[in-house]
Amino acid sequence: MGCSCMFLPYSLMLFLILFITFSTNIRAQTPPLTKKNLLIRPFNNTVSALFVFGDSTVDPGNNNYICTVLKCNFPPYGKDFVGHIPSGRFTNGRLVTDLMASYIGIKEFVPPYLNPTLSLEELLTGVSFASGGSGFDPITAQISGVIPLEVQLKYFRSYKIRLENEIGEERTKLLISKAAFLVSAGTNDFIVNYFGTQFRRYTFTVAAYQQFLLQKTQQFLQDLMAEGARFIGIVGLPPLGCLPVVITTNTVATPLLPRECIDSYSAVGNEYNWLLQNMLTNMDIPGTQLVYADIYNPLYDMVQNPNKYGFDEVHRGCCGSGLFELAILCNPHSIVCFNASRYVFWDAVHPTQATYYNLFKFLRPIIDSILKQ
Ligand SMILES: *[C@@H]1O[C@H](CO)[C@@H](O)[C@H](O)[C@H]1NC(C)=O
Ligand SMILES: *[C@@H]1O[C@H](CO)[C@@H](O)[C@H](O)[C@H]1NC(C)=O
Repeated sequence: MGCSCMFLPYSLMLFLILFITFSTNIRAQTPPLTKKNLLIRPFNNTVSALFVFGDSTVDPGNNNYICTVLKCNFPPYGKDFVGHIPSGRFTNGRLVTDLMASYIGIKEFVPPYLNPTLSLEELLTGVSFASGGSGFDPITAQISGVIPLEVQLKYFRSYKIRLENEIGEERTKLLISKAAFLVSAGTNDFIVNYFGTQFRRYTFTVAAYQQFLLQKTQQFLQDLMAEGARFIGIVGLPPLGCLPVVITTNTVATPLLPRECIDSYSAVGNEYNWLLQNMLTNMDIPGTQLVYADIYNPLYDMVQNPNKYGFDEVHRGCCGSGLFELAILCNPHSIVCFNASRYVFWDAVHPTQATYYNLFKFLRPIIDSILKQ
């Protein structure tokens, strides 16, 4: 999900840039790897690798290596990660993609592709090309100076060439055909780009913009399949109106009213998800599996029925006031809640590890159905 530098006044941005200049000494590191033989393979699956594309929901730290203000490789990010390492993941712990790779039995963490020190072993078992702040609309990534999806795909092509040089063309082809792919993006297109700026609202109605994004998504999936992808999961949108920053920006005029989800924003996400599922059904291509991954309903349920999940705060993030802070605004000087597992959101946009774990549990039946094949 994303980042909303556009919500920030210019002077604040300047401050942030200065702050980052002084805080770059806090460097992200790669977490220690769990021994491979500790991992088990449910259903004796032979999934070779996990490849990930998208935004901050699945970026394990690619933004550490590019020039953007949208980074989080400093505390309190990573507070509950192995060794409390602020790896560049936009949460307090692991991402759903880490949990998935670990569950499938591939490895414990999906590393960022841009990390220059990745071993061949790491490359062979999959990497994430995702970049916090990115989206299907190329303008979305431009707003935050992050990696657009088309460029993520280019990186995947470079990755393939690198692999072919290492293990040969045939084995690379086999590896790709037995790999799982996951694409998670779209939130920033609506929250940062469409509703956060004027660029697209001049020319698109909400409905037209939804169609525009669907076309971009379809093109991206076709490009992935052309590269040999056969199992692709596509994550839908969350209830956009429940993101703390969306609640904040829509209640500035009425700060004393109780905070609650802004239904009109969530409706845009929900509608988009239906259109996306419809598109995926129509794209049905023999030999390829496109699987829709619903996060809307589980996330909405967590917000509506927090007690069921051990949550007691659903409308603000754990970091800072929880109303607007993310990326550099959630920093070593921020007050942090005592127990992030009681919060649905870690910062004003991104879920906590606890929420990601619940999402993973919801998605597990879908993962199992693919692993059984
Ligand atoms: C997995 O393989 C092992 C050893 O070959 C076998 O004993 C076991 O029944 C298999 N499990 C499943 C779920 O197929
Ligand atoms: C944090 O909250 C979770 C979920 O409510 C709970 O299971 C856990 O015991 C809490 N941890 C601490 C240290 O209080």
